[in-house]
Amino acid sequence: MTIDAWLRAAAARLNSESARLDAELLLTHLLGISRAALYARLRDTLAEDIVASADALLARRARGEPIAYITGVREFWFLPLKITSAVLVPRAETEVLVEQALARLPTDRDLRLLDLGTGSGAIALALAKERPRALVHAVDASAAALAIAQENAERLGLGNVRCALGDWFRALPDAPERALPPGLRFDLIAANPPYVAGDDPHLLQGDLRYEPRLALTPEGDGLSAIRRISADARAHLQAGGWLLLEHGHDQGAAVRQILSRDAYANIETIPDMEDRDRVTLGRWQG
Ligand SMILES: C[S@@+](CC[C@H](N)C(=O)[O-])C[C@H]1O[C@@H](n2cnc3c(N)ncnc32)[C@H](O)[C@@H]1O
Repeated sequence: MTIDAWLRAAAARLNSESARLDAELLLTHLLGISRAALYARLRDTLAEDIVASADALLARRARGEPIAYITGVREFWFLPLKITSAVLVPRAETEVLVEQALARLPTDRDLRLLDLGTGSGAIALALAKERPRALVHAVDASAAALAIAQENAERLGLGNVRCALGDWFRALPDAPERALPPGLRFDLIAANPPYVAGDDPHLLQGDLRYEPRLALTPEGDGLSAIRRISADARAHLQAGGWLLLEHGHDQGAAVRQILSRDAYANIETIPDMEDRDRVTLGRWQG
């Protein structure tokens, strides 16, 4: 069987919008080559054992397992991140949060940044890469997730990231439950927290079935993590510091209301590339 024939058959078997791309990613992963190299070899014949291995990967994808869990890698903000089933697969929408954060972070001074619920480290590592003078704290309540974030930071040579295990702000080494002194406060706090409502049927469908429940939902109405982070961030932000929260496309108004009640200023919701509410931010006046 040629590479071209396998790709056509595989794409036909996968019932998704990204079927062809998924098939290509599985085969490039297995063959250890780039997509450009795959295209240069479309007429090559695949050995039988390779076809068998490729079919086994395809069967996993056809059952709904995310591609990143099968290949063990996902690119985020041009950084190749190691991914396992212990972490959420980083989403393209989250790059909107990174863009908004970078627009508020000067390049010419030292910064203290915090990424709450870091998972694979996606947000923390993107900020650490783009702002080498920043010290980026990355927090997660899952030890398995945090180990992946730490490994990604090391593999990418990002020495300005500090990982901390625990429940949101309680994970911070300096001042677990009280207000931080000004010198230790953060210039910006970013979070893509779990925000899906506990009874949302999507949790039992598609790729989400494979991702850690802790990463997807705080249970209840889906807003409890956002409420806590918004309330507690006030004691951890510099005067003039920013809080940026990713949320569901139907939660923009609710998150703006939470930030407003908590007395943030300059509250704004930024849409994703599909023009859906995605990131809400506010500035702590101190
Ligand atoms: C939606 S995922 C985001 C992962 C990553 N930041 C990203 O954008 O790809 C949410 C993360 O929050 C973590 N988390 C959930 N509850 C937490 C808590 N109480 N304290 C700290 N982290 C928590 C989960 O383990 C998960 O890694």
